[in-house]
Amino acid sequence: MHKGLAIYPGSFDPPTNGHLDLIERGAEIFEELVVAILRNSEKSPMFSVAERLEMLRELTASLKNVRIDTFDGLMVEYAKSLEATCILRGIRAISDYEYELQMALMNRKLEPTLETVFMMPADKYSYVSSRLVREVAQAGGPVKGLVPEVVEQKLREKLEPAYKFHDARHEVPLAVPGGKEKKRKKKV
Ligand code: PNS
Repeated sequence: MHKGLAIYPGSFDPPTNGHLDLIERGAEIFEELVVAILRNSEKSPMFSVAERLEMLRELTASLKNVRIDTFDGLMVEYAKSLEATCILRGIRAISDYEYELQMALMNRKLEPTLETVFMMPADKYSYVSSRLVREVAQAGGPVKGLVPEVVEQKLREKLEPAYKFHDARHEVPLAVPGGKEKKRKKKV
């Protein structure tokens, strides 16, 4: 266990199972882990900062050394204000490396005492990103298994028309004796 506080910064729009996996791994390694949501990361996020905060709080309620916060401005300044010693970031595939390397080195230039620590999420989440989850969900596709259930539910609420469209396309009426109709999945 590393003594001290680490921050895990990101947009988390929305939180995915990959994020959660990394938070659980980080919580095992660091004495304290602060998951820090960047405010105004995008001009039109799918979920408000308050919604992301609430979802992440619910998802990490059982992890006693994890707390959720938000920040604005330079991440290293925020990290310094918490007296954090490490920045935790996840790397999925090699394609993440270039961006993460640049960011880690820029952050080191800005604050040499802060160390960036990279961890790999479980390989089953190696292709999962918030951006793709948003894209699939917006088109009415299934995101089960890619995001926690509470996030899936929130996506459904937000995108209900898209899901209705998807469900309607994948269900066809099945005639049953007695004249009542039952829904069954369409074979594709
Ligand atoms: O989940 P994301 O969108 O990949 O996270 C990116 C994030 C929030 C870690 C990064 O954009 C960030 O730290 N922004 C705050 C502004 C800042 O410090 N920029 C310099 C980074 S080198």
